[in-house]
Amino acid sequence: MNREIENQIEKILAEMTVQEKIGQLNQQAEPRSDEEITLCKQKIRNGEVGSIILTASSTAGNEKKSPINEELLDELQHVAVEESRSHVPLLYGRDVIHGHQTVYPIPLACACAFNEELLKKSYRNIAREAAAQSVHWTFSPMLDLSRDPRWGRIIEGPGEDPYVGAVMARACVEGLQGEELSDEDSLLACAKHYIGYGASEGGRDYQRTEITDYSLYNYYLPAFRAAVSAGVATVMSSFNDISGQPVTSSRKYLTDILRGQLGFEGFVVSDWGSVHHLLNFGVARDRADCAALALNAGVDMDMAVGCYAENLEQLLKEGRVSRERLDEAVRRILRVKLLKGLFAHPYPKKRRVDRGGHLAMAKELAVESMVLLKNERVLPLAKDRKIALLGPFAKERRSLLGNWTVDYCLEDVKCFQEALEEKIGREHLLVSADESGMFDDSVPKAGMADVIVLALGESWERTGERRCISELSLSADQIALLKRMRTLGKPVVGVFFCGRPMAMDGLAEYLDAILYAWHAGTKTADAVCDLLFGDRVPSGKTAVTFPRRTGHIPLYYNVTPSGSTINGYYGEEPFPCYLDSAASPAYPFGYGLSYTMFRYGAPQASPQALSLAALVAGEMFHISVEITNIGEYDGKETVQLYIHDRIASRMRPLRELKAWRKLSVGCGQTAAAEFELGYAQLGFYTEEGNYLVEPGCFDIYVGENCLTENRLSIEVR
Ligand code: NOJ
Repeated sequence: MNREIENQIEKILAEMTVQEKIGQLNQQAEPRSDEEITLCKQKIRNGEVGSIILTASSTAGNEKKSPINEELLDELQHVAVEESRSHVPLLYGRDVIHGHQTVYPIPLACACAFNEELLKKSYRNIAREAAAQSVHWTFSPMLDLSRDPRWGRIIEGPGEDPYVGAVMARACVEGLQGEELSDEDSLLACAKHYIGYGASEGGRDYQRTEITDYSLYNYYLPAFRAAVSAGVATVMSSFNDISGQPVTSSRKYLTDILRGQLGFEGFVVSDWGSVHHLLNFGVARDRADCAALALNAGVDMDMAVGCYAENLEQLLKEGRVSRERLDEAVRRILRVKLLKGLFAHPYPKKRRVDRGGHLAMAKELAVESMVLLKNERVLPLAKDRKIALLGPFAKERRSLLGNWTVDYCLEDVKCFQEALEEKIGREHLLVSADESGMFDDSVPKAGMADVIVLALGESWERTGERRCISELSLSADQIALLKRMRTLGKPVVGVFFCGRPMAMDGLAEYLDAILYAWHAGTKTADAVCDLLFGDRVPSGKTAVTFPRRTGHIPLYYNVTPSGSTINGYYGEEPFPCYLDSAASPAYPFGYGLSYTMFRYGAPQASPQALSLAALVAGEMFHISVEITNIGEYDGKETVQLYIHDRIASRMRPLRELKAWRKLSVGCGQTAAAEFELGYAQLGFYTEEGNYLVEPGCFDIYVGENCLTENRLSIEVR
């Protein structure tokens, strides 16, 4: 605790009226029309606004590009600081999710890079660009674990694994918040959506969830725990309910667990309208009820819908909310504003950002995010072959950026065809004449080529909030194109520009090679071309399972065992669980090919046994494995370490990712991946949230994906 800041808070608080305190809890949507601006200024003058969210839409990610009005923000800040009685500056928040002017891959793709240093540096750059445009606070990182790619918002998060989520949480928070929150190029981060939103039933947005406390602690909370321990300044309460309890009115989730157990000290903001939604959930009679429930549960700031502003004064009079709770929320918000340095420097200085450097890093992350799923000796392509480029994403630009980006510069984005022309020269390309890339000249064109490259995918508008789908597949015309191309007897390469994994049955078998490029941001097309022609070697690994069919969802690797042997691990043989299809994944978690090959040695452990007391005292198992690059390219390999607690008092997952090392290994060279496993890695949480390591044997798997059988065992005595 910083004494000086605490004293300042008390001083400011002592001078504030009740109305001004309530104003600090009110986040207002960005005013757009002249009328709205005049009204907003008046409210700011009266001390009725604590923060402004820089969008006018509740589903901001689905908006077209909408530039920040820096002049207006400057004016409004002057009104707050100079014309309001309490002089408390405004806090400007914006959804800067995976890029600002420079757009990085969608977060689900970032997870596939398994490169936390690069991620942190990228998020540092994102903060620099947004902070230079008056943004103080971003509603990122999104940390919702999700096992359902039908859910449109799976693109915004880390995928299905809690450990990946935790590593990403730390990297993003540290990158966004920088060395000091008060640095002018830092952004306040917001861990969202707390908690359980990714478990929406049926992959339908905003639907109910059923999450037991055991699953909550072991699967859904770890990423938030990591964000809190990285010092995240704010947390957003989620839209969903958990087993009949809306999170936004839950003291258990927002106060007892988040603050009591995770130790969060910043402030909680609701999601847009989630306070008002308590009416729709049927737990509140009116908006006053909504405000009382949310504030008492632990929501400090009400996003955009004014339930607090309208009702808190009366609720205080009626004793339905207490002075203490109001003051506590105001203190939390003032503390964050003071830590951000807003009182000392309310007006941003003009700063330059290194766009060139940022674009180079965006390309690097795009290269590392892309996953080579299949390669029947087709890739890399030689630059002097004749290539037919077809498919609806050959000339598409906007979708490459993905959803949840509103500040992008489309002029920086090359389409795939332009990048290909640059890479190999127009003379080596046969392209479809029309914009769709699907025109009828495709067959003759493709027939003249050595290789057919298909630019396939889904639009950015088919992903994101309220953008769920029931079939994880490509459009019918793309499937028809695939099939048609297969008949020509040429090698066919599919490049998938998607936000989520597709069900691969009915797609993969028509292709000789598949590069899953995702919506990888501004430099998507250049990154794809580098990979296709071997200027770079693929190194991405799937952070989410690719099912064969939509009907296999949920399909995720860290399952607990089943009592009967009929369901093999992860739907694997020998006993199929569906009569009509093989339920094993098309591509398992952690999977991704390279142009080179890595041979794994047997893992070694030292020591092989430790007492629980020694573990508690900080001793570790040292695990190492050697990998040798036996192929013809220098490459990077993500060596993954999974554990399985064989016998425990609760059922434990058959594999749990606990660590990875991404190593660069030159052709013909051997490198060692070294890991430490200790108390923090070998335990789990009980349903009360107590952490437990139990004595017994653990299988340790070290290999190239979650199905590796390269293992040894260690014992905790
Ligand atoms: C609703 C979304 O759920 C959330 O992620 C976003 O930050 C807010 N709208 C603000 O745009």
